[in-house]
Amino acid sequence: MLTPNLTVSPDGHLMIGGADTVALAKTHGTPLYVMDENMIRENCRGYGNVIAEEYGGNGLICFASKALSCKELYRIVDSEGLGADVVSGGELYTALKAGMPAEKIVMHGNSKTNTELQMAVTHGVGRIVCDNLPELERLDRIAEKSGRIANIMLRIKPGIDAHTHDFVKTGQIDSKFGFALETGEAMAAVKAASLYPNLHLLGLHCHIGSQILDTEPFAEAGRVMVQFMDKIRDEIGLTLTELNLGGGPGIRYTEEDDPKPFGEIVRAILAAVKESCERADYPKPFILFEPGRSIVGGAGLTLYTVMAKKVIPNIRTYVLIDGGMCDNPRYALYHSRYEAVIANKAAEPRTETVTIGGQCCESGDLIGEDMPLQTAECGDTVAVLATGAYNYSMASHYNRNPNAEMVMVRDGEARTVIRRETYEDIIRCDI
Ligand code: LLP
Repeated sequence: MLTPNLTVSPDGHLMIGGADTVALAKTHGTPLYVMDENMIRENCRGYGNVIAEEYGGNGLICFASKALSCKELYRIVDSEGLGADVVSGGELYTALKAGMPAEKIVMHGNSKTNTELQMAVTHGVGRIVCDNLPELERLDRIAEKSGRIANIMLRIKPGIDAHTHDFVKTGQIDSKFGFALETGEAMAAVKAASLYPNLHLLGLHCHIGSQILDTEPFAEAGRVMVQFMDKIRDEIGLTLTELNLGGGPGIRYTEEDDPKPFGEIVRAILAAVKESCERADYPKPFILFEPGRSIVGGAGLTLYTVMAKKVIPNIRTYVLIDGGMCDNPRYALYHSRYEAVIANKAAEPRTETVTIGGQCCESGDLIGEDMPLQTAECGDTVAVLATGAYNYSMASHYNRNPNAEMVMVRDGEARTVIRRETYEDIIRCDI
C-alpha cells in the first residue's frame, strides 16, 4: 500500500489507522475525508525530533495550515509542540479560535489587507512575514496606532528554482512573492525594514516550492540565506537572529513516487545552515520550518460512492462518483496524479484502467485518468489516497455542492471534525 497506515482487512476492506473505510462510508456518508490522527502526530514528532537532535531544539515547526485548516488540526499540532503558518485572516481566525497561542503563529501573505495586519498586531502574532515595501509602511503605522512593536521577517526570493529536474539558481525573479536577492531589492528592503520604529526585524524567510522530492535545493537555500545574513551583517552591522526556511518536502502520491523522507531533508538543511554559519563565524539562528503537505498529505484519503460507470468502447471507461473537483480540484488544476482503490474490494487486483469523473457540470472535473482500479460497480466505495493536503483546504462550492464531512481516525475510532455542510449552509449568505 502507498502509506504504512493502510492495510486490508480479512474481508477485503481497506483500513486506515485501524478503521474500516467501508464502514466509515456507511456511517458518515460520502464524499468523506478521512484523516489518520496517529500518522499526523508521528509526522509532527518526526520534525521535532530532527530539530532536537541536529540543532539542539533551537527552532520551531509551524504547520503550514494552507494544506489543511480546521480547528481540530490546530489543536493536534499545538499539542505536539508545533506552531502554525497562516496566510489569511480566515486561517488566523481559525487558529486563534482553536486556541493556538498567537506567539507560535507566523502570518504570511503577499497582499495582506490592513484588516489582516491589524488582526495580527492586535492578537500579538509571533512573526509577520512581510512581502513588500508598501506592506512595511502600512504595518508600521498600524503597529504605532496600536502601541505595539510588530515582530517581522522579510520574505526573500533566494533565486532557486527547485521544480526543474536539475534545480537552477536563476529564473525565480519572476515570482509574486517577496524581495529578490540578485537585484539588490532584498538588501534595500532589509535596510528599510530596520529603520521603522514600530517594526522589529527578527530575520529572513524563504520558501523554494512545494512537493520537492530532493534534498539539495533545500540545502542550497540554507546556504544562500546564511550568506545573505552574513552580507547584511557586513554592510549594515545588523545580526539577524532567525531564519525561516519555509515548507516543501514532497510525499508519495503514486507507487512510482520516491521522495526523500522529510527527516533527511531537514537534516540536510540544518547541516548546510550549521556549516555556513561556522564558515562565516555567524551565530546560528533560531530556525523555523513550515511543512504542510508532508504532515497531513499521506495521512488522509477520500471516500466516494460509485454512481455510474460508462464504457466508451476503445476510448475509455468512466467511473462516476458523488464528489470530484469540488472536494479535490488538484487534477483539474495541476493534473496531479493519485492512486485509487475500491475500498470494498481492496484485496482484489486492480485489473481495469479508468477515468474517475466527478459530479460537476464540467468535462475537466476528473480525479484522474488512466488509473488502475478493481472492477467498479454502482454502490462500490472508492478510496482516493493521499488526499490529506490541499484537498479540503481548496474545496469549492461550484454547482452549489456542500463541502464534505471530515472524520479523524485514532486507533480504529472515528470522530467528526468538520461536519457535512447542509443546503441551508450553502444559502446562509444569500439575501
Ligand atoms: N510556507 C509557504 C510560504 C508556502 O507558500 C507554502 C506552500 C508552505 C509553507 C507549505 O508548503 P508544503 O510543505 O505544503 O509543500 N495547492 C498546491 C500547493 C501550494 C503550496 C503553496 N505554498 C498543491 O495542491 O499542490
